[in-house]
Amino acid sequence: MSKEVRWGILGLGNIARKFAHDLKLVSGGRLVAVASRTLDKAEQFRDEVGADKAYGSYAEMLASAEIDMVYVATPHHLHRDNTLAALQSGLGVLCEKPAALNSVQLEEMLAASTETGHYFMEALWTRFLPSTEKVAEILASGELGGVVEVEADFCFAAERDYSSRLFDLALGGGALLDIGIYPLFLAYQLLGVPEQIKADGQLSPTGSDESCSMTLSYSNGRIAQLHASVLYGSAMAARITCERGYILLPGRWHEAQSLTVIKAGYEPQEIATPFPGKGFYHQILSSQVAFLAGERQNEKWSHADSLAIMQMMDDIRQQIGVVYPGEQ
Ligand SMILES: NC(=O)c1ccc[n+]([C@@H]2O[C@H](COP(=O)([O-])OP(=O)(O)OC[C@H]3O[C@@H](n4cnc5c(N)ncnc54)[C@H](OP(=O)(O)O)[C@@H]3O)[C@@H](O)[C@H]2O)c1
Repeated sequence: MSKEVRWGILGLGNIARKFAHDLKLVSGGRLVAVASRTLDKAEQFRDEVGADKAYGSYAEMLASAEIDMVYVATPHHLHRDNTLAALQSGLGVLCEKPAALNSVQLEEMLAASTETGHYFMEALWTRFLPSTEKVAEILASGELGGVVEVEADFCFAAERDYSSRLFDLALGGGALLDIGIYPLFLAYQLLGVPEQIKADGQLSPTGSDESCSMTLSYSNGRIAQLHASVLYGSAMAARITCERGYILLPGRWHEAQSLTVIKAGYEPQEIATPFPGKGFYHQILSSQVAFLAGERQNEKWSHADSLAIMQMMDDIRQQIGVVYPGEQ
């Protein structure tokens, strides 16, 4: 294998374009191939982002022997099949979030990564951002004491196109899987797996969740209050309350370029947490390092981390009544 990771992108939509942009900023990796369901689209995308090859089918790219790692950028309902196909073709996988529709699918994907020995990571890019690392550093210093409450949301007013992937159940539609995963990630990152989740949701005419509110309870009264909505917007700020102060992540907190530490008895301290590009730089770099080291997973966002979040989302969907085709 070369010392450079040769990437292929599978599914050429919005996020694929942003990923291709940021990949150019990262040394040690190169976009070699792109694959679409249609050759015309793949050729156009190839020319736009400067890849070497364009394929008019996903299977053709996976069989090409020209790439090491696949970035799966299709809608949620395809993540399992696309990931399994890539792993079985001998390739590493960075798969867009949510990793799958449910934990049954994800367990199948993780088992395939174990059996084939190939890298798999869910593209939970916020985990790799400087703001996330800075929060961890501040909390580890102990200056604020332990975390007692996390408040976070991810809300925006989406266009009411019920055939779009945001609403269509066949494409894994719904606020929880698309954007609720971010506040859940923050609570999980800071407080771990809760003892109990109480969720409430508002469903669209398709049966997908338009809004979802979640209260996560932990031992000693610790709590996380989380919201996600594609019905209405919000400031999208997050607050991490600790025993001796709090940390504010300004909107949009999941890609914050600064944060403020407010410690009882002190002036607020603003800390810059900039990142290059559109936010995927650190995630790509970390994936490349792990992949080239022969790792099967990423220690910063492991298989167990993805599974924990997916199980929480299964629980929440059961409470609010969102069922995807093929699920009981
Ligand atoms: N990390 C982030 O910040 C972020 C942001 C947005 C989305 N995402 C995730 O990325 C994934 C893709 O989202 P996106 O916004 O890029 O979606 P999108 O613009 O709709 O693109 C998805 C692509 O998947 C392919 N595809 C294959 N089967 C499809 C089908 N039945 N219907 C629609 N598209 C199909 C299409 O590519 P071809 O026509 O080329 O085959 C399409 O362009 C989702 O899982 C989403 O959660 C992540």
